[in-house]
Amino acid sequence: MINAVVGLRCKECGRDQAKEPVAACPECWGGLEPLYDLDRVRRTFTREAIASRPADLWRYRELLPLDDEPTVGRGTGFTPLLPAPRLGRRLGIRDLWVKYDAACHPTLSFKDRLVAVALSKAREFGMDTVGCASTGNLANAVAAGAAAAGLRAVILVPEDLEAAKLVGSAVYGATLVGVRGNYDRVNRLCTEIVERHGWGIVNVNLRAYYAEGSKTVGFEIAEQRGWRLPGHVVVPMAGGSMLTKIERAFRQLVELGLVEARPFRLHGAQPAGCAPISGAWKAGLAQPRPVKPDTIVRSLAIGDPTDGAAALAAIRRTDGRAEDPGDDEVVDGIRLLAETEGLFAETAGGTVVAAAQRLARAGAFADGEPVVLQISGQGMKTVEALSGRPPFAAVIDARIADFETFWNDRGTAA
Ligand SMILES: Cc1ncc(COP(=O)(O)O)c(C=O)c1O
Ligand SMILES: [Zn+2]
Repeated sequence: MINAVVGLRCKECGRDQAKEPVAACPECWGGLEPLYDLDRVRRTFTREAIASRPADLWRYRELLPLDDEPTVGRGTGFTPLLPAPRLGRRLGIRDLWVKYDAACHPTLSFKDRLVAVALSKAREFGMDTVGCASTGNLANAVAAGAAAAGLRAVILVPEDLEAAKLVGSAVYGATLVGVRGNYDRVNRLCTEIVERHGWGIVNVNLRAYYAEGSKTVGFEIAEQRGWRLPGHVVVPMAGGSMLTKIERAFRQLVELGLVEARPFRLHGAQPAGCAPISGAWKAGLAQPRPVKPDTIVRSLAIGDPTDGAAALAAIRRTDGRAEDPGDDEVVDGIRLLAETEGLFAETAGGTVVAAAQRLARAGAFADGEPVVLQISGQGMKTVEALSGRPPFAAVIDARIADFETFWNDRGTAA
């Protein structure tokens, strides 16, 4: 396999090092990122070659950090990019698109992409046990991916997560450990577990490889738009990694000549109850200040975001903005996307829709350029968010007369 990855580079001090399972730069504790020699793949990684490959994330394998053939995640990714005209009219956005990553195989969130990369890498390293600290979606993805790959999985989550996210991890036979405390505590514990056990914790010592999986969101958006970059992408932020990786993906495509260079803006979305990155953007700070999360948007509830400063820099570099709608707006956003486009998003998606509404009102999309909403997870995973309102219009006996009474009276009720 021809591959472009040549090593790991520290994002802080620029020091290079070998491709190993390491959590951070040994010099300065900065985050690490795979380094590519794009000249190696210029001739093989063409629009035609990509188009001839199966519709999954591995069609972009030259720009993913593997040395061998991928072994995990066949069929994962290549989710639909859908026009959203009805939602667009409601939000006042002329050319609106939804990247529906809630349809990602196998566990209905974009985290399946990252896990495909991380577990393929874990197998290259000869690891037999993998795991993660998770706000829920990653737990589902690691549990499913490990089961399919025949790896042992040990997964740590805050013990009070949504029921579907807990059941949807345990069902795959993973060892699921509930931790009393929020995600930031779970993450610190996982760092210590790596030191003790040497397991492949995807967002600790496999993080440099795992995070690259998010680039495939950007590659797909560009390819699905006929190899053109969109004017705007609204991206949910927890640790802030995905936003930075969408920028990296767009820039790598430009460097390879696969898309024309043109301005694009990346906008970040966080819930008001956990908005360290958005808050720092609004306050003009270079670094997010850690917060204690208090929001229904559990998937974005990371109070001390690992890639927060990098996400802030990417937002500013692309002339984007950040928004942090409240929980009520998030629920309205979930309903609006469902009622206008027939797409059910989890709370992270509701956050993106609600942020897009605020951004549209502020004139952020006034240039009329295409706007893509990254909808990163499925609504069935967070039904608790909607439990405030009963789902039935009525409960009746199985008699036509009862139905007719209900139907004729419905306008007068409420
Ligand atoms: C559904 C969903 N969307 C978005 C994110 C945020 O991704 P990042 O941590 O890369 O900012 C997460 C993270 O857990 C998530 O679960
Ligand atoms: Zn460093």
